Amino acid sequence: MTVPAASPTVKSRVLIAGATGFIGHFVADACLDSGRPTYVLVRSIPKCPSAAKVLRSLEEKGAIVLHGLINEKEKMEEILKEHKIDVVISAVGGESILDQLSLLQAIKAVGTIKRFLPSEFGHDVDRADPVEPGLRMYDEKRKIRRFIEEYGIPYTYICCNSIASWPYFDNCHPSDVRPPLDKLQIYGDGNTKAYFVAGTDIGKFTMQAVDDVRTLNKSLHFRPSCNFYNMNELAALWEKKIGKTLPRATVTEEDLLAVAAENRIPESIVASFTHDIFIKGCQVNFSVDGPNDVEVSTLYPDEAFRTLDECFEDFVHGLNEKHLSPIDENTPPNPMVESLIVTATCA
Ligand SMILES: NC(=O)c1ccc[n+]([C@@H]2O[C@H](COP(=O)([O-])OP(=O)(O)OC[C@H]3O[C@@H](n4cnc5c(N)ncnc54)[C@H](OP(=O)(O)O)[C@@H]3O)[C@@H](O)[C@H]2O)c1
Repeated sequence: MTVPAASPTVKSRVLIAGATGFIGHFVADACLDSGRPTYVLVRSIPKCPSAAKVLRSLEEKGAIVLHGLINEKEKMEEILKEHKIDVVISAVGGESILDQLSLLQAIKAVGTIKRFLPSEFGHDVDRADPVEPGLRMYDEKRKIRRFIEEYGIPYTYICCNSIASWPYFDNCHPSDVRPPLDKLQIYGDGNTKAYFVAGTDIGKFTMQAVDDVRTLNKSLHFRPSCNFYNMNELAALWEKKIGKTLPRATVTEEDLLAVAAENRIPESIVASFTHDIFIKGCQVNFSVDGPNDVEVSTLYPDEAFRTLDECFEDFVHGLNEKHLSPIDENTPPNPMVESLIVTATCA
């Protein structure tokens, strides 16, 4: 399928599936901030209060809400044609990856979509190699890639690595949860590095990429050097922020594999990804200079990333007295934490 590249002067019309989800709402927010006409596809009126709140805030910012499922081919064709959609971004969750097959058929049938971004937003699934049950999800994401390529749909694969937060091995949406205040769990020897990217930056750079000819039919890797940490460094950063040292516990490779083998969804999937990242080094054991790879910091050298330091600062702002006392005598107190304790005590 040959589709002309978008003109930089005309704003692409973007359809986002999964905009009420964890990653999707960052992308939808950034899309609206970019001034592009933004259509969000929702299955039904969200029952979950947090998804309903996200949808309301997107609508207030100007999003146009459309109802439908990506696995309804005819409906999707109708939406793509009627709203003259140029770019389709899917951020559906891990359990819905294969639902994208009908969406792909609709995109192929319509033939006017200038760029499709499938639900990836993690590792390069052709290179990463998690154990089960994470492998099953990657096999599905790989299958979607192969169909996109076979159908000749113009694409970009967003390989944004880890969300900027504490990488709990038994948690599915880690950036919702603050780093620990009781003990720090370190995977293996704690020396394998990974890249951490704020959700807002995942959204921002995804939207930069959608009309960029340099990202056409490429994997876009997020490797910000300012956010390149191993578990030991991450633990030290958090301790500095809270002005407190915490006991450390080693979670071994065998421990992670045992949780993965329990096949509890989603916990075992997260354990298998944690093993792949912090034991096997799946984010760093390949270079991104292949013909199908581009890297965000190289493409947009003037655009800053939010640092992990700043993201951890946000967690400190969310803390209260109950979580913080007592401060360890060996570590200099963090003035902000001190002031939070004072404020909370006075309140
Ligand atoms: N890099 C990271 O650290 C990281 C972290 C988390 C996720 N991810 C990846 O990001 C992607 C999105 O995951 P997520 O956790 O953000 O998902 P999520 O929070 O579970 O949200 C999924 C969204 O997709 C919608 N959806 C699901 N099936 C659909 C269908 N058939 N038609 C239309 N909408 C549908 C859901 O709508 P309803 O509201 O109706 O359910 C919801 O809005 C996945 O590929 C995941 O692997 C990466």
